[in-house]
Amino acid sequence: MDKIALLKQKKQQALIGGGAKRIEAQHKKGKLSARERLLLLLDEGSFEETGMFVTHRCDDFGMEKEVYLGDGVVTGYGTINGRLTYVYSQDFTVFGGSLSETHAEKIVKIMDLAMQNGAPLIGLNDSGGARIQEGVVSLGGYADIFYRNVKASGVVPQISAILGPCAGGAVYSPAITDFILMVEHTSYMFVTGPNVVKTVTHENVTSEELGGANAHATKSGVTHFACANEVECIDHIKRLLNYMPQNCEEDAPVYAYDIADETRTSLNNIIPANPNQPYDIKEVIEAIADAGSFLEVHKQYAENIVVGFARIGGRSIGVVANQPAYLAGVLDINSSKKGARFTRFCDAFNIPLLVIVDVPGFLPGTDQEWNGIIINGAKLLYALSEATVPKITVITRKAYGGAYDVMNSKHIGADLNYAWPTAEIAVMGAKGAAEIIFKKEISEAENHEAILKEKEAEYIEKFANPYGAAARGFIDEVILPEETRTKLIKAFKMLEHKVAKMPKRKHGNIPL
Ligand code: HXC
Repeated sequence: MDKIALLKQKKQQALIGGGAKRIEAQHKKGKLSARERLLLLLDEGSFEETGMFVTHRCDDFGMEKEVYLGDGVVTGYGTINGRLTYVYSQDFTVFGGSLSETHAEKIVKIMDLAMQNGAPLIGLNDSGGARIQEGVVSLGGYADIFYRNVKASGVVPQISAILGPCAGGAVYSPAITDFILMVEHTSYMFVTGPNVVKTVTHENVTSEELGGANAHATKSGVTHFACANEVECIDHIKRLLNYMPQNCEEDAPVYAYDIADETRTSLNNIIPANPNQPYDIKEVIEAIADAGSFLEVHKQYAENIVVGFARIGGRSIGVVANQPAYLAGVLDINSSKKGARFTRFCDAFNIPLLVIVDVPGFLPGTDQEWNGIIINGAKLLYALSEATVPKITVITRKAYGGAYDVMNSKHIGADLNYAWPTAEIAVMGAKGAAEIIFKKEISEAENHEAILKEKEAEYIEKFANPYGAAARGFIDEVILPEETRTKLIKAFKMLEHKVAKMPKRKHGNIPL
């Protein structure tokens, strides 16, 4: 065979991975092949492959007879919406996508290139874990990847899609990356699977219940997106990247935007007359952001806080907002962790932050205290305090107690703080406050209820408004809800070149 024909034959062989039959089996499970996924992810014709002819080096357990070009992972680079991206896509048709020494080396090479050239890394994971026939070299391969995940953290965006099994220590590479996406019913993640669980804790649980997309989207918060299918999942990855810069030294892409009438009168009536009545903060976000630009992250987890990307006047921002429609928007352990992690991503990648506040305080109770609301609530406080990107706050209604401080108050470095006229900035709600400070008068009065009402009204008059905070400069301006978007477009533009530095140190010690 001539040399050109040999090369063509080898390439053809590499393209089919573990063979057509196994690809068909993937399809039957509702899964795409490793290469089909890359075709969907990358701009047409942009993919350049590396390591196509790499093979494993194992000759134990008859492995020398089973050799597949590429060794179960397709690696390379291409563009997504015209921007350079490094990718790997595990091929389940080759030894169940399991990670051998050489499979790991291919991923490591791509990770090094992503770091050196300052572009995002996308991992499409579909793997039975460590290649069992290889032993410790496979474990070493995992550790080589984990180490690079950590070094790349905050340098280039890292996104992991879980498109099949992901078990054992293999889950820790995705866990270190910035965003995880899973597909309902075809992907799962766990440290130990149902069989081990049954042996150790005697629980009967299926893979789906234990580590499926819904479990991780709602219960553990491990996944940021639970997608209906792989096409939706890949589409989400592409959308996500549009809000991000290529690396920590660049800014996110700015979309062309012509200022028009930015008044949003619908916002004037969004706060209910009764301060205990809920409303949906997502309606506020949608009205403030550029039309259709809001991409919610961690949608089904800790719904009392809403986080996600949006654009304002064409510029990327990260939004962190209390959600009065869920648990009255209270801050608890999970919402604090969720808000903190998202804040830190935005800060690492120069994405300005908008914090929208309607929070009655921290959630009381033994469950919260014993599980560490102190340490976990401090995460959000820490993350917002250390963020040096432009930070703007809008208080729509309640900003009570410690939660006022935590939610991007002026005191922790916010650049601009706005309040709507409906804002209530106080140590606590009026009724609770009146009961404490007028305890004596109330208990001595003939009509307890009447005096409580009177004292409550007195407290509301004094504190349930934004003017005390504005008088001290803690609020820069009390604005009409309808002008919020106009103000924010101008303010984020004004802060475009903000430079702020934290003191020189090795690194801070966020309360983990
Ligand atoms: C080698 C593997 C493999 C592995 C699967 N295969 N996992 N080969 N090493 N880890 C092979 C199978 O032998 C089979 O080969 C093919 O891949 C497809 O696997 P099936 O079992 O037929 O597929 P399915 O029924 O879909 O089940 C998938 C699976 C199961 C759930 C992933 O294969 C499985 O449980 N595999 C072992 C998982 C595991 O224990 N991995 C080690 C985890 S510990 P043939 O030739 O028959 O097609 C770990 C440590 C990492 O990963 C530590 C990092 C710190």
